[in-house]
Amino acid sequence: MDNQPPNTTTDAGSPVGSDEYSLTAGPSGPNLLQDAYLLEKLAHFVRERVPDRVYHVKGGGAFGYFEVTADVTQWTKAAFLSQVGKRTPMILRFSQVAAEEGYPDSDRDVRGFAVKFYTEQGNYDIVGNNTPVFFVRDPMKFSDFIHSQEREPDTGLRSNNMQWDFWSLSPESAHQVTVLMSDRGTPRTWRHMNGYGSSTYMWENAAGEKFWVKYHFKSEQGVQNFTDAESKAMRAEDLDCHRRDLWEAIARKDYPAWRLEMQIMPYEDAPGYRFNPFDITKVWPHEDYPMIPVGRMVLRVSGRARTGWCWRGCSPTPTRSATAPARTMSNCRSTGRLTRCTTTTKTARCSTTTTGTSRSTHRTATAGPRPIRSATAIRAGSWSPRTSCARPTWRTRTRTTSSSPARSTAR
Ligand code: HEM
Repeated sequence: MDNQPPNTTTDAGSPVGSDEYSLTAGPSGPNLLQDAYLLEKLAHFVRERVPDRVYHVKGGGAFGYFEVTADVTQWTKAAFLSQVGKRTPMILRFSQVAAEEGYPDSDRDVRGFAVKFYTEQGNYDIVGNNTPVFFVRDPMKFSDFIHSQEREPDTGLRSNNMQWDFWSLSPESAHQVTVLMSDRGTPRTWRHMNGYGSSTYMWENAAGEKFWVKYHFKSEQGVQNFTDAESKAMRAEDLDCHRRDLWEAIARKDYPAWRLEMQIMPYEDAPGYRFNPFDITKVWPHEDYPMIPVGRMVLRVSGRARTGWCWRGCSPTPTRSATAPARTMSNCRSTGRLTRCTTTTKTARCSTTTTGTSRSTHRTATAGPRPIRSATAIRAGSWSPRTSCARPTWRTRTRTTSSSPARSTAR
């Protein structure tokens, strides 16, 4: 009996007759409704997914560490910031705001930038965005704002009218809408965007003095965004381009990093400041409160594969289990078929369909000219739209004045 594999059981713990065959009336059916385990198994299946969040649905992230690079003890007594060189494990989750799971990563949207520090005094969360300001200042408007970005209940469609209706009737949203519609509205990758705590937080030092602070996470990769045309092209090429980029960057040990810089306002300054420093639709001008360097965070371990690696970053070389496995097979992005790559590059590329047929050809990176439009080319900024199919809009027209397609605008 001891050598028997364990039985599958029902939820109540009774062993089931078979996990492969349902009860039937005779060898060829019909299936019988009294097969309680079949019903239980199917009931589990339809309920097994965690329902989508209302927003910030699609996302991804990685574990890493935060390291203090400057002495900030004159402003804070937080243990994780107490010593230069101190490392604290952390996780960063990037997300899209309005879109549901499965939506294109490249679309114009604000991106969530949620950081959790696992400190010895407990978890410390900075739930930020890639923008320093927000659409509303009064929480009463929050759900109305989110609803205006989601799908309409009757048509099931997202509606530009609904979005602009909310924005135009909420003038305080103008700052954030301007950022969203600017060159910073379509991040090229999660690695190429800054993160901002946006809200004003408080620090307190060992002497009990209080300070108002704002968190700024500055990308060491630089800030890069898609043009409108590139973003639309990527939508057709790779819906998951941001998830894929982060996963692949960490797998090739190109660990993304951000500098933490703070704006710090003495507690007493707030009442007399020229505008309400707690108004999240505004930024604190840098000339009033310059950036103060604090630390640096590095993402080292993506997704589920974190075994064998020290979160504090002690291990300079993550083990194989801490990185994505080398890919020898990959799915054609058009047909979804699994393709074995025979060359050493291990990259299967799929050209677009042959005219007049639905056949697609799989090419390897070395087997011929690169496809006109590949996710890699769009990501790298070496793809440009053919003039015949790039319909200019006010946004693309503005952008064509930019000399660099990648437009690194780090500041
Ligand atoms: C009144 C204002 C706000 C309310 C009521 C609110 C509420 C929420 C709620 C309920 C969630 C969880 C959604 C879920 O898991 O189903 C959430 C997620 C999130 N919020 Fe807010 N929020 C507000 C403002 C903000 C602001 C100003 C920021 C950024 C500066 C922000 C950034 C985020 C992010 C990044 C997430 C996703 C966190 C993750 O990745 O797990 N929120 N918010």
